[in-house]
Parts: sequence; C-alpha cells; structure tokens
Amino acid sequence: MRRLRSGATIRRMVRETRLSPDRLVLPLFAIAGRDARVPIDSLPGHARLSPDLLAATARRAWDLGVPSVLLFGVTDQKDAVGSAAYETGGVVQTAIAAIKDAVPEMLVVTDVCLCGYTDHGHCGVIADGTVHNDLSLELLARTAISHAEAGADVVAPSDMMDGRVGAIRAGLDAEGHEDTAIMAYSAKYASAFYGPFRDAAGSAPGFGDRRGYQMDPANGREAVRETLLDVAEGADMVMVKPAAAYLDVIAGVRAATSLPLAAYHVSGEYAMLKAAADRGWLDERQAATEVLTGIARAGADLLITYFAEDAARWIAEEGA
Ligand code: PBG
Repeated sequence: MRRLRSGATIRRMVRETRLSPDRLVLPLFAIAGRDARVPIDSLPGHARLSPDLLAATARRAWDLGVPSVLLFGVTDQKDAVGSAAYETGGVVQTAIAAIKDAVPEMLVVTDVCLCGYTDHGHCGVIADGTVHNDLSLELLARTAISHAEAGADVVAPSDMMDGRVGAIRAGLDAEGHEDTAIMAYSAKYASAFYGPFRDAAGSAPGFGDRRGYQMDPANGREAVRETLLDVAEGADMVMVKPAAAYLDVIAGVRAATSLPLAAYHVSGEYAMLKAAADRGWLDERQAATEVLTGIARAGADLLITYFAEDAARWIAEEGA
C-alpha cells in the first residue's frame, strides 16, 4: 500500500476527495441597525451583524471563493406566532436585500423557521400545549414567500414540521416564485450540538425540547424516509444535520437520492474544535480540514460550516 503514499505527487493523484470552495456555505446571523456587531461568545470568530456589515462579510467571503451564505435572523421582537419572521422589512428580509445589492452573484440561502421569532422558542405555533404541525405550515410558507420577495435564491426550512416542503413549494409557486429553490433540512436531529447557535439566535425552547419534531439521534433508516418525503414534496436539495456524528446518515441519504446533498457542520461541532484548538489540544487547521473532508467523503456535496472562510483560505494556500 505504501507505493501509492510515497510522495506528494502520487498522493495528489490518487486522492479520492477534494475540498473546494465551491462546496462551501457560510452561515451568518442578521440583526437590525447599522455598523452593529455583537460577537457570539460560544462561536469564536462569528458575530451577529447588521445588514451593512453582512454585505461586507458576504463580499469578503465571495472574494475568497465562497459562493453562498445561509442567513439567520436574530431579534428580540417575539410573539406567540413569530410574526417578525414574515413581516416585510424584517431583519432577514433587510439583510437579503443588502447582501444581494453588494454581491448580486452570491447565492443567498435563508433559514425558514419560527423558533427565533416565537416567545416560546419553538419552531411552530403552540396549540393545546404542544407544537401544532398543520397550523405552523401556513406561517412557514408565509416566511419563505417573504424571503423570496426580498430576493433569496434558496429557502431552507429547518422547522421539521411534516409537509412543510410541499406547503412552501405551493406557497412560492402561487406567489410567482417558481424559481426559488428549496433546500430541505430533511434529516435534522434533536442534537446537543445546537447549543452555541441557540445562544446566538436566542432561540432555545422556553419549555420542553424539540424531540417531538426533530429526529431521534438513534435513527438512521428514518433519515432516508424523511428525505424521500421531502423529495416527493418538491425539495431541490436535501440536508443532513449535524454532520460529523452522522456520517453514516450522510452516506445512507447519498445512496437513496440523486439530489444535491448538503451537510451542516453545526455550531457545537465548530465550537468544540475551536475550544480544543484554543487550549492547544488540537491543530485547528488540520482537525477542521480532516472533519470537513470526512463529511465530503461520506457523500455530502455542500458543506455548511462556520469554517467556510477559513477553509476557503486553507484550500487556496494548499491547493486542497
Ligand atoms: C432553527 C435552527 C437551528 C439550527 C439551524 N436552524 C437550531 C435548532 O433547531 O434548535 C442549528 C444550527 C447550528 O447549531 O449551527 N430551527
């Protein structure tokens, strides 16, 4: 076996997986205001940004070769039905316009969910003390339409309500947004690794947890079932989330559909690498490259990662 490992040239030739900036999606957190930057302690290197600073960040990422951003809104304007998620001139809607204005070619993906906008922190509306699936669908579709109206290229529902991809597709088409694509968070697990994100977005559930709608980490076959439902409802791309602890799920979903597959290396997965690197326990660049390469090797086409800008820089320096 060593003959094919004996020099940089042969290793380069037989390498099976190559990271490319083309695969990278950078998550960004939008707040209202101007020149506003609020760092996120548990996501070192990331901050909540006002539209002008988001536009500048998008420009910097684009110039590094990162073709896409995934936008989340952060607001303290919350109510029982998450109205700030679908209002015109809302925080995400404003951010989309600012980014598109600054970098028109940037593929803007928006997270569609209610948890950052509801006073109870759940991803749908509450009826009889529980998250009501079907009542939530209309509000999620409304949110997606408002993003499309503001200029989003792709909407990414992360709420995990049943039937939301179909409801969003129908809503977009009815409003003349046939060209807006849907990237479905198809296999999204009820994970402990979303902690830093919930700090960033102030979106932790006020009571209970998300196990009634997000997937049980113990289930692999169910991920294929979830994905095929989203495909049947009209998803253009599908997603597995988190990524590093779910490589078997990525491989399984890869085998079950020919659609582009995204994997989300989530906030906690990023934070733990950063924390270990900060203590000198891991080499950040090597460890992050290894994890991202593993996610790609498992079958993900697109990598949603807080390392997107770093990874683009590392790839440029090393030629992957
Ligand atoms: C919203 C949403 C979450 C994430 C993406 N969209 C949090 C959650 O479901 O609680 C997590 C992303 C990350 O941890 O980086 N539903």
